[in-house]
Amino acid sequence: MKQISALYPGSFDPPTNGHLDLIERGAKIFEELVVGILRNTEKVPMFSLPERLEMLKTLTSHLKNVRIEAFHGLMVEYAKSIDATCVLRGIRAVSDYEYELQMALMNRKLEPTLETVFMMPADKYSYVSSRLVREVAQAGGPVKGLVPEVVEQKLRERLEPAYKFHDELQEDISRSSEKKERLRKKKS
Ligand code: PNS
Repeated sequence: MKQISALYPGSFDPPTNGHLDLIERGAKIFEELVVGILRNTEKVPMFSLPERLEMLKTLTSHLKNVRIEAFHGLMVEYAKSIDATCVLRGIRAVSDYEYELQMALMNRKLEPTLETVFMMPADKYSYVSSRLVREVAQAGGPVKGLVPEVVEQKLRERLEPAYKFHDELQEDISRSSEKKERLRKKKS
């Protein structure tokens, strides 16, 4: 069998359990897997590039054939520069397919020798995306089980006021329902 070096490119802002699941699956089938974090100058990310690099390095330290790198510019050119012959991308649901197909075909047009391979993360992560994780966390909502603990911790630190507001609101709600319950019991 051929020893294939693959690139798993993405924004990873932040890395989710779905990303990690895919990295672990990829590490099993490729000789070497490079996780390439895009340095996107157009979008302001929630986590800086060094933060995302650090998080992913920590999360994959147990996988000896996985390397975490940053890249900018065209993904196919970066893949070539690191001798990757395959690009790994995750597909969670049919809704991902259209965008992924378009991107894979454009990449094939740019570099015909580079193959895109799609893998599915575990079904329990099929609805998890960085965008939704950011949205939930920005409103102080729970992201336990959606992202690794180090990422959850980072989100809590970054969005402390939102979490504080959310926790206080929850306390108010539970105090008022306890009060209602006491009144109901008193009446009956
Ligand atoms: O995690 P994402 O945001 O879905 O990843 C998208 C990514 C980084 C794989 C894609 O935007 C990309 O490859 N960007 C680099 C620029 C490039 O090569 N664009 C052409 C894509 S067809």
